[in-house]
Order: sequence, then structure tokens, then C-alpha cells
Amino acid sequence: MSRASTTEARLHDHVDRLGLEHPPIDLDTVDLTVRRPDLLADRFGHVLDYMARVELEVDRNVLELTTLLPTPPEIDRRFYAEVWQPQEIQHGLILDRLQVHLGRPPAQTDLTSVGVKMKVLGALAHLDPFQDVCRMLYYLTGMATERSAVLAYNLLHDGVVELGERAVAETVIAPIRRQEPGHYAFYQLSARGLWAELAGWQRWLVRRMRRFSFAPVGANDAVQAADFGAVMRTLGIDRDTDGFAEQISRVERDLLWAHRRGLKVPPYVTRAFRDAAERAA
Ligand SMILES: [Fe+2]
Ligand SMILES: [Fe+2]
Repeated sequence: MSRASTTEARLHDHVDRLGLEHPPIDLDTVDLTVRRPDLLADRFGHVLDYMARVELEVDRNVLELTTLLPTPPEIDRRFYAEVWQPQEIQHGLILDRLQVHLGRPPAQTDLTSVGVKMKVLGALAHLDPFQDVCRMLYYLTGMATERSAVLAYNLLHDGVVELGERAVAETVIAPIRRQEPGHYAFYQLSARGLWAELAGWQRWLVRRMRRFSFAPVGANDAVQAADFGAVMRTLGIDRDTDGFAEQISRVERDLLWAHRRGLKVPPYVTRAFRDAAERAA
């Protein structure tokens, strides 16, 4: 089997397994017993809000995706229709229900506006060689997003446990957190497979476009970047911004910047995280 078909077979297995082992979380399995709602809201309310918004905006992400990739490979379509969208939407609904339960307003989401950048890329993506460049950017974004989610849910989980809110930790955060690594694995496998197929000019274009389009998860404008900075501070990420940036971009660095020996983190990643921290301050 060629490298491409081996990757594709592995991806199909992966999606089959995620579908079987990780059904979307049922709202009825969630226990919203909270001992001190005020304290939980005060401490982590804005983190719940940020994450609820990002998770719920999966519906806009799917719109963006269909704009960006007019003819996606079957495996990508299966992944987002059968696994990713149904799981993420439940994450969003559960987190939002929790924050409303704590007396906070529900998350304000943007589920419909597809940016100009996305539309231009989508128009270009009708040319096949360019579609692969767009796909690569999509996988890179997916990797960084899902890795950020895993790390953030780990920190949130520990923080909630520390407050003694066991029901929330065990029935809200832990089950959500468990589903994120499977998403990350999908994007990583896809990114490695596609990168190996790209021609030199496509790789060059991916590097250039990634440099000016990278943003932390869910930070689509200056206000959201500041919100992300506040989340970083609450979760303690701001004490080791560079370490966090390194963890979410390790595979990206190894693929895109392998020729830059000694580079720890792509500079645009470090810059975006520092910028968010500064905006929050
Ligand atoms: Fe999620
Ligand atoms: Fe995810």
C-alpha cells in the first residue's frame, strides 16, 4: 500500500473507533450539583463561557469548512459529520448549561458569519493544488485547537477539583476532556499524511499563510484575544506562555520548520499568545 492509502485506512479506522467508543455526551448524564455556585462562577465563570462559546461555534466552523474545502475527501466529511460536530456541540451545550446554572448569562455565539479571508481561500480552493494548501492549514488549525482544548480542560479540571466541586469535575469536565485527544489524533494523522504529499511550492505557501493567519483557539478579534488572555491567566497558562505555545505547536514545528534546526516554537505562535496575555492585562 502507498503511504497515502495507508494513512487513509488508518483514518477510517480511527473515525470508526471514535464513533463507537465516544458517543456524544448525553445531557442527562451530567450532574450539576454545585456546593458553592458563587465561588465557582467567580473563579471559573469566564473560562466556562469562553469554552462554551468556542465549542458551540462548531456549527460556524462546519460552515467555514464547507466554504474552505468545497470537495473534501470522504474521510474528512465523515469525521466532521459523524464525530467532531456531534461531540463538540454537546460539549458546548453542557458547559453553557453549567454556566447558566451558576447564574451567568448564556454564551454569545456567532454561528453564521464566514469571514472574507475564508471566502477568498474557498474561491481559490476550487483549484485542486490550492485545495491541498487549504486542507493543510485546516489540519494545522485543528491540531493547535484540540491540543489547546486538552491542556485547558486538564487545568480547569484540577481547578474545579481544588474548589471541591466533584460532581462538575467528574460529570462535566472529565467526560468532555476525554473526547478531545481523539480529535487531535485525527488532525495529526491527517497533517502528517498530507504534508508528505505536498510539493515544495505548496509547503512554502502553507508556511507563509500560517504565519499571518495563526490565532489562539477562539480568538477571532482583539476582544476575544483579550478574553483568551484572561482565560490563560485564570488557568495559570500565563506563567509559562512559551511552554504552552511549544506544546500546542510541536508537530507543526517538526513538519513545517524542520529545516530551522534549534527552533523551539514557531515565532508567530509565541507572539499570538504573548499578545493575548498583554491584551488581558
Ligand atoms: Fe470539545
Ligand atoms: Fe475537540
